[in-house]
Amino acid sequence: AFDHNKVTVFFVLGGPGAGKGTQCANLVKDFGFCHLSAGDLLRAEQHREGSEYGDMIRKYIREGQIVPMEVTVKLLENAMRAALSENRQGEGWQDGKGRFLIDGFPRKMDQALKFDEDVCLSSKVLFFTTTEEEMLKRLLERGKTSGREDDNEESIRKRFRVYKEQTMPVIEHYSKEGKVATIDATATVDEVHEKAKLIVGRVFAGEVGNITA
Ligand code: AP5
Repeated sequence: AFDHNKVTVFFVLGGPGAGKGTQCANLVKDFGFCHLSAGDLLRAEQHREGSEYGDMIRKYIREGQIVPMEVTVKLLENAMRAALSENRQGEGWQDGKGRFLIDGFPRKMDQALKFDEDVCLSSKVLFFTTTEEEMLKRLLERGKTSGREDDNEESIRKRFRVYKEQTMPVIEHYSKEGKVATIDATATVDEVHEKAKLIVGRVFAGEVGNITA
């Protein structure tokens, strides 16, 4: 089992295109987090030669659906274990604890409950929020060069629906526990970064309860 005392976890949630990946890259530089993206782990597994899950993952991602928990949680736990065992100084490792930014997870209540039980019960949530119109605009722009099979309008609309129906309840769940820091992500990348940096700093300084910036 995981040693719960050895990890500090921030989940990073928000709609498709809210800017989660972009801001994680910034926060890694600020705080030395180990950044793990559920979407990136799934895409890597999809392309891994010999993976038994490749075809299944491709189908779910193209449809904007949530990949079954057994696969996602396993990939994530393996990645966390690898990072912890390497014990890389300055890369997600601080004061004897692995500091993780886990991007795009948990997307569904079953994942949240499983992670709380198996890995870490005290995770915080950074919730990046903006309008659907803004997210659509960003993803259609990114789609011109990203090569991602789900950066087309049909897949994006499906991802919005899944996000509302399945991921919003996860955010509400953690909000009831006073663990959510909500960041308005409508501004420029730099402005959003400043807010996110301040918020994470406040949490590390010991502030508890839901926070808004
Ligand atoms: P995932 O890879 O997580 O995609 P997503 O949640 O749809 O989010 P994106 O990566 O598209 O956007 P982002 O919020 O990171 O924004 P970004 O910073 O790139 O998931 C894909 C799929 O994998 C899912 O649909 C599902 O099938 C599967 N999956 C993933 N996690 C899973 C899980 N836990 N369980 C099961 N299945 C799972 O920014 C977007 C664009 O906007 C970029 O071009 C960026 O440059 C630009 N931008 C960012 N911020 C700004 C700003 N402030 N102003 C202007 N432009 C900006």
